[in-house]
Amino acid sequence: MNQRIDSLQREILELLSDGRFHSGVELAAATGVSRTSIWKQIAGMEQLGIEVHKVRGRGYLIPGGVELLDPDAISAGLEPGALQRFGVPQILMDVDSTNRVAMDAATNGESRYVCFAERQTAGRGRRGRAWVSPFGCNLYCSLIQRFSNGFSEMEGLSLAIGLGVRRALVANGAQGPGLKWPNDIVLEGSKLGGILIEVSGDVAGDCQAVIGIGLNLRMPGRAGQRIDQDWTNLDQCSSASWTRNGLATDLLNHLARVLEAFQASGFGPLLAEWEQADALFGKQVQVTGAGNFSGICRGVDEKGGLVLETDDGLQVFYGGEVSLRAQL
Ligand code: BTN
Repeated sequence: MNQRIDSLQREILELLSDGRFHSGVELAAATGVSRTSIWKQIAGMEQLGIEVHKVRGRGYLIPGGVELLDPDAISAGLEPGALQRFGVPQILMDVDSTNRVAMDAATNGESRYVCFAERQTAGRGRRGRAWVSPFGCNLYCSLIQRFSNGFSEMEGLSLAIGLGVRRALVANGAQGPGLKWPNDIVLEGSKLGGILIEVSGDVAGDCQAVIGIGLNLRMPGRAGQRIDQDWTNLDQCSSASWTRNGLATDLLNHLARVLEAFQASGFGPLLAEWEQADALFGKQVQVTGAGNFSGICRGVDEKGGLVLETDDGLQVFYGGEVSLRAQL
């Protein structure tokens, strides 16, 4: 998609974002292109999965409207620490995976980088799963964090990020969001979001983490049918009125703060907050992946490992491909 088409499509989307009817004539006049071009752009939007109603004599309407992510609005709300750490966020309209984009940026030597996408066509989840990422309704975000003392410096990183995400959700009225080790954001047992961290570089020296965060905000029911686990939306569980841009801004501000603390002192000082947020603390759980273990979840250790009380005593599990679920 070339830049002009991309920006034209954005202009039209902005005009339709109010959820009201706009005629082809009005859209053509406002953007300075022909009605045929408008029609083509509308067809392109439908290809992106955007629902556009077309009614003869009235024009085009996006039901419920759409709030596009706005880099200026997000940047304006960023605290100095966040702006310094991440730079101005890039907003991508349509991309395979923001983690892939951030990984490329890291490979090209970027260290201050954050992007959001309106849609992902190949969003990546943990354990090889797909992350369902329809247009304009959720948050899909990736950023780069560099470390200089090898992979061990990243112990507990995904748990720290979970705390940053949770703080941002609470600030936007989410009622009691919890964290499920190692990196799920949950509400009443259903998944509200997830974190995927992909690391590269020198195991014992300079290395980087691409930190990807997906949050379900207003996932349409049709797209939600493609999710193969229990899930929920912020829409269903926030008492406050929130906006995508406001949440994106709060997310970056809270992530910058938590990353600063993590870089200074590791996960240890964040442990108590994590235990407060732990959705499975004290519950009977099952750990699978490196064998099959049952026991009571006793929280996490200073390195972010899961502590499980089994019949054979306490056992600690570390991230990787281990998976945890509550036992019914
Ligand atoms: C999980 O399986 O729980 C992790 C999901 C992570 C999804 C996010 S969306 C933004 C970023 N880009 C990706 O392709 N994946 C992550």
